[in-house]
Amino acid sequence: MKQTGDEMQDVGIIGLGCYLPPEKITNSDLEKLVDTSDQWIITRTGIRERRKASQEVASSDLGVEASKVAIKDAGLNPEDIDLIITATITPDMAFPATACIIQDKIGARNAAAFDINAACTGFVFAINVAQLFVSTGTYNNVLVVGAEKLTSIVDWTDRSTCVLFGDGAGACIVGKSKDRRIISSFMGADGSGGHLLNLPAGGSRLPATEETVKKRLHFLKMEGNEVFKVAVRIMAEAASNAIKKIGLECNDIDLLIPHQANIRILMAVAKRLGLSEDRIFMNIEKYGNMSAASTAVALVEASQENRVKKGGNVVLVAFGGGLTYGATVIKW
Ligand code: ACO
Repeated sequence: MKQTGDEMQDVGIIGLGCYLPPEKITNSDLEKLVDTSDQWIITRTGIRERRKASQEVASSDLGVEASKVAIKDAGLNPEDIDLIITATITPDMAFPATACIIQDKIGARNAAAFDINAACTGFVFAINVAQLFVSTGTYNNVLVVGAEKLTSIVDWTDRSTCVLFGDGAGACIVGKSKDRRIISSFMGADGSGGHLLNLPAGGSRLPATEETVKKRLHFLKMEGNEVFKVAVRIMAEAASNAIKKIGLECNDIDLLIPHQANIRILMAVAKRLGLSEDRIFMNIEKYGNMSAASTAVALVEASQENRVKKGGNVVLVAFGGGLTYGATVIKW
């Protein structure tokens, strides 16, 4: 339902849900595929296992399951959703948007729908956009989904990337609320770093040909070392910018929920922000990096585990392909 209100509304997270496909790929499974070891993966990344959706399952299917839980958690029906924003770099297909596919599958017939492509930062960007739509009174209930089937774009012969990524989805409903209130946001991009993390073929620059397939250009490519350095600096800056915008200090962060890229990145970001380990949410061990779904699932699990007391300051922070980076502060 659309509104034309001219007062700024309090906006919060009114429902949460996630879905992880049941199949697990352990580090020892990967030892059989590429020249790697359980010990290397754990010490260099912090990952023990990740999830893999079955062949017939696409990102929208993962997103649908997470969305149903979030809608129910908010006490709403699919018809109550005014807008769906899906953050993904593994859309079901180039078009239509995965958000439109989700809209149809859940029966949200009153909702507009579009996708955001900001890689791992996608969920944070999508929440920030949703917050604006609700605060201006344009929409009441926005469904924000982070859904990824990264195992479909991972090169299973490349040990430097295939050990990192997994599949999953998380969703939240952004609506009018004084609880879990979104009180600050920050977003940024640096397109000059786009080459550090990309999927070269299949777009208008390099349409699919036999040649591109032979060269394995339809798989994710990453300069891990370079991304690592940028990630530490940029995530700390994004979190710090978002919290300082509202007159708080990094020490006021009760729980940092970062994009789950690498445990060493998370520890380095915590150190830069002066936060002890107990104030950093981590589930990378179980799921690896799920791009836009990572912060989404982490937000859901942090809530389920009661990691924050009412009134606490939660900061979602992410960086990813683009390069993109951003943060959202939620007063719990
Ligand atoms: N198993 C064993 N050895 C490996 C593996 C592996 N899986 N992968 C790389 N190595 C080797 C390398 O070949 C290299 O060997 P060499 O010294 O003989 O050349 C050695 O390990 C060290 O390689 P580095 O790349 O320097 O390893 P590093 O410690 O940097 O870890 C990693 C690599 C895990 C990729 C790290 O750089 C990283 O996490 N980068 C950030 C990735 C990231 O955050 N991406 C997020 C964005 S994702 C998105 O937006 C979709």
